[in-house]
Amino acid sequence: MQTNTNWDSFLPNDVVKNTYKTWQQIKAGLSLTHKNFSTDLRKFFFPLSEKRIKQFSPVDGSILTVRFEQLLNEDWQDAEDGIYPINLLFEVDWQEFFLAYVSLWLDNPSSWQRLQTESFQDLPSNINLDKYPQYYRRNFHYQTDGYFSDRSANLYDVQVDILFNGIADSMRRRILKPLKQGLSKFDEEVKILDVACGTGRSLRFLRATFSTASLYGIDLSSAYLRKANQLLSQLPSELPQLMEGNAENLPYQENYFQGISNVFLLHELPNPIRQKIIDEFFRVLQPHGILVICDSIQLSDSPELEGMINNFPLLFHEPFYHDYIKDDIEEKLAKSGFTDIKTTIHAFSKCWIATKPD
Ligand SMILES: C[S@@+](CC[C@H](N)C(=O)[O-])C[C@H]1O[C@@H](n2cnc3c(N)ncnc32)[C@H](O)[C@@H]1O
Repeated sequence: MQTNTNWDSFLPNDVVKNTYKTWQQIKAGLSLTHKNFSTDLRKFFFPLSEKRIKQFSPVDGSILTVRFEQLLNEDWQDAEDGIYPINLLFEVDWQEFFLAYVSLWLDNPSSWQRLQTESFQDLPSNINLDKYPQYYRRNFHYQTDGYFSDRSANLYDVQVDILFNGIADSMRRRILKPLKQGLSKFDEEVKILDVACGTGRSLRFLRATFSTASLYGIDLSSAYLRKANQLLSQLPSELPQLMEGNAENLPYQENYFQGISNVFLLHELPNPIRQKIIDEFFRVLQPHGILVICDSIQLSDSPELEGMINNFPLLFHEPFYHDYIKDDIEEKLAKSGFTDIKTTIHAFSKCWIATKPD
């Protein structure tokens, strides 16, 4: 169960802001400590070959600190401006976190072994893999079971948050302001689709931002959808409609949604599939509707972080990332028909905001 406190109702804003920033710094410190300790253990028990180690590039930590600080300011500002409630910044399910954290340690040896042996097709035998696209049948990040089990779904959120030093949700929330601005032109209740909704984090934030909108989520993983349902069904408001399906062929009619969001998917897709999925976004979006995509930064906008960007796929199985970091997503959006295409950078994430013309 999430802890919900209406901080803003009884404390001055400065105090709440500093509490938020301190809390995020603690999370970053704990994530770094965890990563350093687990990396030492991994190196001892499952060392990588000299050839692989030589590929790693150095990273300038001071750039990361500045970006981290900017992101927290943006996250705070959007909450203070009323885009979403301030208490969203403090939501934690402690019981869930501790269970996942213990499970993560129990799981580490098997994912370290996959990393060492570069095994990325170590998937559960009880799954009919034929119904999934080839690019999906793998252990992204060398994670146990790929996207194909409840165990994987239970570990996912804590793994991603540690990877991003506690700011994964702050990056996800950057979709909310452009969506809110883009959807303000519609008088009727809007329908918003979150594509590749995973465990439902973005849908949770969408629900807090658009309390009466009809929300929809689609993902290829039934296990991740079960996890999303668990998170979203704790809320008193209307449940988002969750559907298992492939974003390449969205099971919705043309012009159905006013808003579409999509977080951390594109970098896990082969280049032509990215175009196919963006074409689908265009098809199911209504004219004047708004699309907001959030994914990793790319080389062209963050050359100073080239070392970090190049290191990522060396430790985490991400076969399409090299192509993604050079891909011209603006061109793909324009090719589908989108206009008013803008991009913004937030720490290690990038947003594309685009409109379907009349
Ligand atoms: C890195 S996770 C991101 C999940 C979530 N959006 C988040 O913010 O954590 C990628 C998600 O995309 C889903 N996925 C990958 N390919 C897909 C496809 N072709 N159609 C639908 N979902 C897909 C996976 O099952 C997984 O849940």
